[in-house]
Amino acid sequence: MQKITIAIDGFSSTGKSTIAKQLAKALGYVYVDTGAMYRAVTLFAMRNGFIDENKNEAQALVKLLPKINLKFVYNEELGFAEMYLNGDNVEKEIRTLEVSRNVSEIAAIEQVRFKLVEMQQKMGEEKGVVMDGRDIGTVVFPKAELKLFMTASAEKRASRRYKELLDRGEEVTFAEVLKNVEHRDHLDSHREVSPLKLAADAIEFDNSDMGLEEQFERILNYAKRVINKQ
Ligand code: DC
Repeated sequence: MQKITIAIDGFSSTGKSTIAKQLAKALGYVYVDTGAMYRAVTLFAMRNGFIDENKNEAQALVKLLPKINLKFVYNEELGFAEMYLNGDNVEKEIRTLEVSRNVSEIAAIEQVRFKLVEMQQKMGEEKGVVMDGRDIGTVVFPKAELKLFMTASAEKRASRRYKELLDRGEEVTFAEVLKNVEHRDHLDSHREVSPLKLAADAIEFDNSDMGLEEQFERILNYAKRVINKQ
């Protein structure tokens, strides 16, 4: 059967990665979490002292971009690929609230986007991928056969992220998490380079009040319909 490209975009914490992983598993496709790539570059910038609450030395980071090596390595036990930055597994570190606080600024740097988009296009060259992010259906794969745009209310999304962070042992308040979600929404949809926006041919999917199973069933049906038409 002919393979397709599935692009999943949307605001943060709308469950993009959950549905993307489910779809990839059901279809035997490769899942690519592009947010993990922006997060890993952010971690690199933080480790090198290029970014914190008070500074953003974008040019210094851009100079070192060729020295950033990113790789996804599939973890059989977990059932998904983990992010490696210059040979180290950084899967846990890239998910902290500290990285979330800085990532939108790093993701707004044109040269960073250029490097990562090029890598993403290579990963999806042979189709059979489910890729999630902010610009997948608009910039990375404008010809993707299936494009989904996930939304949910900011409160719902913050409460999902809050639970995740607590489960991971981070000491955060709900108010802090909500503030971060709203702040990132604003930065992600107002930046100059590849802002988050709904592609004309994307299916918008609001899951504020939808269970995971129902969502999966519906979206898998969309995907099967598109695949059968190829
Ligand atoms: O999906 P996420 O929350 O892990 O993404 C982290 C950040 O990276 C998000 O705030 C915006 C940015 N991002 C982006 O600009 N483009 C992508 N394709 C994926 C993520």
